[in-house]
Amino acid sequence: MGKKKDLRSKEWFGSNDKMGFVHRSWLRNQGYPDDYFRGKPVIGICNTWSELTPCNGHLRDFAEVVKRGVAEAGGFPLEFPVMSLGETIMRPSTMLFRNLASMDTEESIRANPLDGIVLLTGCDKTTPSTIMGACSVDLPTIVVPGGPMLNGRFRGGTIGSGSFNWMIKEKQKTGEYSEADFTEAEVCAARSIGHCNTMGTASTMGTMSEALGLTLPGFSSIPAADSRKKMMAQLSGRRIVDMVNEDLTLSKILTKEAFENAIVTNAAVGGSTNLIIHLIAIARRIGIDLKLEDFDSIGSKIPLLVNLMPSGKFLMEDFFYAGGLPVVMKELGKLLHNDIITVNGKTFKDNYAEAICYDREVIATMDKPLQENAGIAVLKGNICENGAVIKPSAATPKLMKHKGKAVVFESMEDYHERIDLPDLDIDENSVIVLKGVGPKGYPGMPEVGNVDLPEKLILKGVKDMVRISDGRMSGTAYGTVILHVSPESTVGGTFALIKNGDIIELDVENRLLNLDISQEELEKRKAAWKAPEPVAYRGYARIYIDHVEQADKGADLDVLVGGSGSKVDRDLH
Ligand code: FES
Ligand code: MG
Repeated sequence: MGKKKDLRSKEWFGSNDKMGFVHRSWLRNQGYPDDYFRGKPVIGICNTWSELTPCNGHLRDFAEVVKRGVAEAGGFPLEFPVMSLGETIMRPSTMLFRNLASMDTEESIRANPLDGIVLLTGCDKTTPSTIMGACSVDLPTIVVPGGPMLNGRFRGGTIGSGSFNWMIKEKQKTGEYSEADFTEAEVCAARSIGHCNTMGTASTMGTMSEALGLTLPGFSSIPAADSRKKMMAQLSGRRIVDMVNEDLTLSKILTKEAFENAIVTNAAVGGSTNLIIHLIAIARRIGIDLKLEDFDSIGSKIPLLVNLMPSGKFLMEDFFYAGGLPVVMKELGKLLHNDIITVNGKTFKDNYAEAICYDREVIATMDKPLQENAGIAVLKGNICENGAVIKPSAATPKLMKHKGKAVVFESMEDYHERIDLPDLDIDENSVIVLKGVGPKGYPGMPEVGNVDLPEKLILKGVKDMVRISDGRMSGTAYGTVILHVSPESTVGGTFALIKNGDIIELDVENRLLNLDISQEELEKRKAAWKAPEPVAYRGYARIYIDHVEQADKGADLDVLVGGSGSKVDRDLH
């Protein structure tokens, strides 16, 4: 072992000159005794707690528990807030602000005297945004995933947060539920602290953090309300201090192999399509070359092992009781890179070798999976030259090869105005095309890709149709929905040129999404196409529109890709 590296925080607190006095003195107004902090690793607890992010509403308490662990291990904990993104409340889409929150996280870490970081995460975007920001600084970092809500129970049955939403229109139209039923369901679906309890985006992001090696083993599946969640938060507080002493930075954990593990695991748990965009964005921050095509080549042949909504039947609480992610990772065995290290300094093999499954209905074996080839399929064709994605495990098998007439909506507003018109020329074989919901176009690429079917078809009993958009879909949603079309309609490309009545051909097996059009007609339309006016002229939205990259690149801002490390040369005087 070489000489131990000086603590980064020593640059602030370690000198006996004027600046050392300034840095220490003001901090002392909090009442810290000298020996409580002097010379100790400073651990920044990056908290996404907010009352506007109900899924992270418990994280204020959790920060105190993490501090317990940090102090026990000889560190000095300092909690700081960063922009929190509440999925169910923020308009027009939390995705617009993911990059902003990542900047907040990055700059808060770099500018301050921090040696190690604990990221307190939960709701969908709070996980990728903070990890992206932390990656651009690359200090030792551990993730504390906030954990899912307990199972929702309604009238003797189970309801998952999120997935129920997609049935509301159907159930209202058919008169199955009354107004009072919905009011009751509202609270039944959210009966404890925590984030969505399906394998939606939040659970997917928690799972991703663990599969990347960024959490203590087994942490992500524990419900927020379970006392073991707090216990693990305290242990994470202890561990980050050791990580600082070991100089176990993010880039030592986030290797290409770690990203491949996350892709494989996501397929096996039936995780959200949103993972694709976030994982690519994280990879690009830490300098790993991860491509959209990797999700197909590495993930598409992976079987589905976890029987959770929206693809399956159970919820995260059941998953935890069945043994949680450790069982899945043990089951995946050779399909994972098992010899790479995680935040606890041990390898995946060490961490997951002893995992035991307690319920094979919830977690299947590799010999008898719930579904073969469950990972994400990346489609190519003239509609999506840089790719589009579909989650086969959430789609209707018979629609995966389909030819139909396009019914085109130029924007979300256009869709709302016309979808339920009785004379709209649409039937169950039509292909719904929704434009203008990409990163630049909306802006912020909202989760609208799984638009509701027209009322008249719902009443006829139609449950699914092919839908194509340049937007995203909620991780709790399902259907034969093609998402993330790149390039998006706002920047041009063939997707922008689709017209009502055009024939669209989808062939998931052959990874094809094509518009049946002659070269001559295509050229004519191209020549007539005009780029839409930008939707924002000032502020962050303007910066976002000017700089956001397309979905296949992770929809990060071009100026944020990569990192600047942790060094700051100039002091404040
Ligand atoms: Fe926050 Fe689903 S809305 S996790
Ligand atoms: Mg969501």
